[in-house]
Amino acid sequence: MPSTSKPLDIESIKTSTNCEHIHYFESLNSTNSWLLEHGQCGDICISDQQSAGRGRRGNVWVSPNGGNIYLSQCWCFDSKIKHWSLLGLVTGIAIAEALEDIGLKKHGIKWPNDIFYQQQKLGGILLETTDQSGKVIIGIGINVELSANLTKEIGQPVTSINEVLKDKFVSRESVIIALINRIEERLSQFSTLDFEQFLDSWKLWDILQDKQVSFDHQGITVVGKVIKLDEHGRLGILKNSGVLSYYSSADIKLAKGKDSK
Ligand code: BTN
Repeated sequence: MPSTSKPLDIESIKTSTNCEHIHYFESLNSTNSWLLEHGQCGDICISDQQSAGRGRRGNVWVSPNGGNIYLSQCWCFDSKIKHWSLLGLVTGIAIAEALEDIGLKKHGIKWPNDIFYQQQKLGGILLETTDQSGKVIIGIGINVELSANLTKEIGQPVTSINEVLKDKFVSRESVIIALINRIEERLSQFSTLDFEQFLDSWKLWDILQDKQVSFDHQGITVVGKVIKLDEHGRLGILKNSGVLSYYSSADIKLAKGKDSK
């Protein structure tokens, strides 16, 4: 496994996508931060490593140079969009589809924004908004190659594309091309999103449906079964008390022994 990645062939990525403005760095604090400061609509920022990679819920996204993908894109939407709260979930679907395009199977999305393979995290999404209405930075971290050290450092079960695909080597370029194309396809239709159609796609990738879960909510442990998503992208949990409640954010844990995809 390389400790330093081969530089990306950005021209091949441009040729296979509609994206002309790719800002590529050997090292940055965070590709999201760079675009928040400098990004124009449609720009993509990629870095081989990040010194201050950010995850959701204030977490650090450990981002050494070693063959992973740290990519952000600046999207500008019509500010009258009806389903803003579904943007992260739609991005998750695009990523899951891109990974299928490059040959991955049996991966899925753990609500709201984690890409999983057999209970191990493969990637994540961080959405950040700017003060310009309609402008969103979509940050994506995908593990393509993970060293044993990094796996230990992360402190939760993780895996990578090349670990899952074993003998079939996949280049970072091919993953990035698939990601950019699927994101373009899904997000260019986002303003006219039909909720029922979205739900049909979501169900193909959702690893939590009907699962018994637990999570912390405002200092209290919630335990129950995942029932459905509502139009705001909130997760409906039938609590063991018999009450159905909806949550817009949580770090969900699957109950032990209840395997998912
Ligand atoms: C998560 O699962 O917590 C979200 C992780 C998002 C990480 C990506 S890497 C590219 C972009 N730049 C960042 O600082 N974070 C996102």
